[in-house]
Amino acid sequence: MEKIVIKGGKKLKGEVDISLAKNSVLPIIVASILSPNEIIIKNTPVLEDVTVLVNLLKDLNCEVDFSHETGELKLNTANLQPISSNSDLIRKMRASFLIMGPMLARFGSCKISLPGGCNIGSRPIDLHLKGFKLLGAEIEIGHGFIEAKAKKLKGNRIYLDFPSVGATENLLMAAVFAEGTTIIENAAEEPEIWDLGNFLNSMGAKIEGAGLGRITIEGVESLKGIEYKPIYDRIEAGTFMVAAAITDSIITINGVNEEHLRPTIEKLKECGVKIQVNGDSMIVDGTGKKKPVDIKTLPYPGFPTDMQPQMMSLLSLIEGSSVITETVFENRFMHVAELVRMGASIKIDGRTAILDGVSNLTGCEVKATDLRAGAAMILAGLVAHGETEIGELYHIDRGYTNIEEKFRKLGADIYRVDK
Ligand code: UD1
Repeated sequence: MEKIVIKGGKKLKGEVDISLAKNSVLPIIVASILSPNEIIIKNTPVLEDVTVLVNLLKDLNCEVDFSHETGELKLNTANLQPISSNSDLIRKMRASFLIMGPMLARFGSCKISLPGGCNIGSRPIDLHLKGFKLLGAEIEIGHGFIEAKAKKLKGNRIYLDFPSVGATENLLMAAVFAEGTTIIENAAEEPEIWDLGNFLNSMGAKIEGAGLGRITIEGVESLKGIEYKPIYDRIEAGTFMVAAAITDSIITINGVNEEHLRPTIEKLKECGVKIQVNGDSMIVDGTGKKKPVDIKTLPYPGFPTDMQPQMMSLLSLIEGSSVITETVFENRFMHVAELVRMGASIKIDGRTAILDGVSNLTGCEVKATDLRAGAAMILAGLVAHGETEIGELYHIDRGYTNIEEKFRKLGADIYRVDK
């Protein structure tokens, strides 16, 4: 079994290049279903989640050409078959449920197994289904499957009880060909939604307000093929920002969008980290004295839940008391037990974690309990005394490209080994 082994204590220095956003690339890949012409996605990160989704499309007769060297991903869904049976791939990854919206839009029906995904709460899909129904689809659920059917979707007004990222994206894609006007209210405002809207508009869709709380979609007849480069990964950038802070180092991060990173920038500044942005590059100076801070995760533009575990590693080492409240997911504290094994002092009370900063962590065997929890373990390992061995790397590989290579280039003592 593969493990990441880190000998803690090395300062980081130099530059790191951020990959394009996993959470943009995944919906954009499935959105390619909406055009029978070739779609080219530039600089696609080579990630396990991308492979899963691409394989799912290949199974459905999509022509795929993915160069791992350049990241150019060519997709042609001209001969795509409607999905009507089970696929293990859908259970493997929650984001693959995003296939339902575009499939419904293109074929008028879609039957897939109920989604799986990261182990961070029950993650229902009620908001997706409520939206499909409002667009005129009939939904049937049974024996682990969901089936949606609609001869022709019709525009409607959809209010989301919670600004779910996935539901906003799925409905945005479903509504592209719907007759008339669709309005999604209380839509998620994440930058990746803006990116999906921009991608679809470049293909010929008529979408206004993607990335804002109210999205208007005028149905169109067809979409054309295009070449597109998605946005940078703000969570990967945030992970490296925390790396500079936790190791008391100064590093340069290339491939950032200041606006998208605003919540993380402001929180790290509050901690005492100095951050200087120059265009799409950023210098993070984590050498100063740091202060404890409180964090509450919220939908964008609030503090991202996907940065919560990484910040927890940092705060566990800052003298004083910090409080982290997780409001987006109900079970996203699995990394706490792992950090405590490394010597952190953290108590959980419902959705709140109370941290009492310790002066050092000690390396030991830990596991990546989910994707971002895995990143938190790497960050803790970079400063822990002795050796940290991280298992269950498939979680990390879902969302980070060459993470140990990127850290090694910055001077960390980190290797992937087969044990
Ligand atoms: C996306 C991101 C993930 C991020 C999350 C929140 C992708 C591929 N993944 O996940 O990295 O952590 O946004 O920023 O983009 N919910 C419902 N009913 C629904 C849908 C969601 O109750 O129908 C709840 C979920 O259980 C969860 C919360 O809403 O508690 C947020 O989920 P959502 O915004 O949908 O996240 P994902 O799209 O799954």
